[in-house]
Amino acid sequence: MNWGMKNRLSQIMGQDDGRCVMLAVDHGYFLGPTEGLEAPREVIGPLLPFADSIMLTRGILRTCVRPESCVPVVLRISGGSSIVGEDLSKEAIIASIEDAIRLNASCLAVSVFIGSKYEHQTLMNLARLVDEGEKYGIPILAVTAVGRDMSRDSRYLGLACRIAAEFGAHIVKTYYCDDFDTVVRSCPVPLVIAGGKKLDEKDALKLAHDAISSGASGVDMGRNIWQSKSPVSMIKAVRSIVHEGLDVAESYTTFVHEPSGSNMTSKLQK
Ligand code: R5P
Repeated sequence: MNWGMKNRLSQIMGQDDGRCVMLAVDHGYFLGPTEGLEAPREVIGPLLPFADSIMLTRGILRTCVRPESCVPVVLRISGGSSIVGEDLSKEAIIASIEDAIRLNASCLAVSVFIGSKYEHQTLMNLARLVDEGEKYGIPILAVTAVGRDMSRDSRYLGLACRIAAEFGAHIVKTYYCDDFDTVVRSCPVPLVIAGGKKLDEKDALKLAHDAISSGASGVDMGRNIWQSKSPVSMIKAVRSIVHEGLDVAESYTTFVHEPSGSNMTSKLQK
C-alpha cells in the first residue's frame, strides 16, 4: 500500500482506537430534501466538530462545508437514480477522480446493490473505482445494499460485504443484523454500519453498541443523528460508544444530560 493510500485511510479509520464516527449526509443524492436535512449547511455546521469524517456529494461539499474545515471528506461518487425513478440500483460513477482530488477527498464511496437488477453494473462501478483509487492512493468505501426481496440478514449482508472486499474495497458499509460477528469474520476489511431509519435515541445507541461489540469498526450514521431531537447530543453519545467504550445506559445518560445549547461547542470539548 502506498503512502498516500495509508495516509488517507488513517484519516478515516486512524483515530487512536482504529474506529470511526462518519457523519452521513449524502441522502439527497437520491432522496432530495430528506426530512431533517432540508437545509444541509445548517445541519452540518454544528455536527462537524464531532465527526471523524463526513460522507456527502460534491454538490453539498462545495456549497455547505467551509473549505477551511479539517474534517476528512468521504465523497459519494455513485448515483444516477432517484426514489421516484425506475430502479435505485441503476447507478453509474457521477464524478471524476480528478474532481475528487481537487476536492481533497480522503475516500470515495460507491454503492453496490447485490441481488438487484443492476448488480453487475454496480459491481463494475466498484471495480473501476478501486482501480482509479489505487492509481491515486485514494481508498474506496463500498456501500452495500441487497435486493428488495432479500432480507437484511447475515447471509445476504455477509454475501454483499465479502464481494465488496473481494473487489478491493478498503472499507465496507453495511447494516447491523443478528449474527453480525459472522459478517465481520468473513469480511477482511473494516466494516462500518449505517444507522438506517430513525429510531428512538436509546435504540439507536444500542444499535451502535451492538455493532461495535460484534466487531464493527465504526458507524456511518445519518438520520439517527440529524433527525434526533438533539443532533449534537446524539453524535456525542454515539462517539462515547464508538471511542470511549461506554455502554448504552451510560451513553444515553450523557445524551439526556447534554445541555440543549451545546450545539456550538468547540472540537476541543469533544
Ligand atoms: C444511503 O444510501 C446513504 O449512503 C447513507 O449514507 C447511509 O444509509 C447512512 O445513513 P443512515 O444512517 O441515515 O442510514
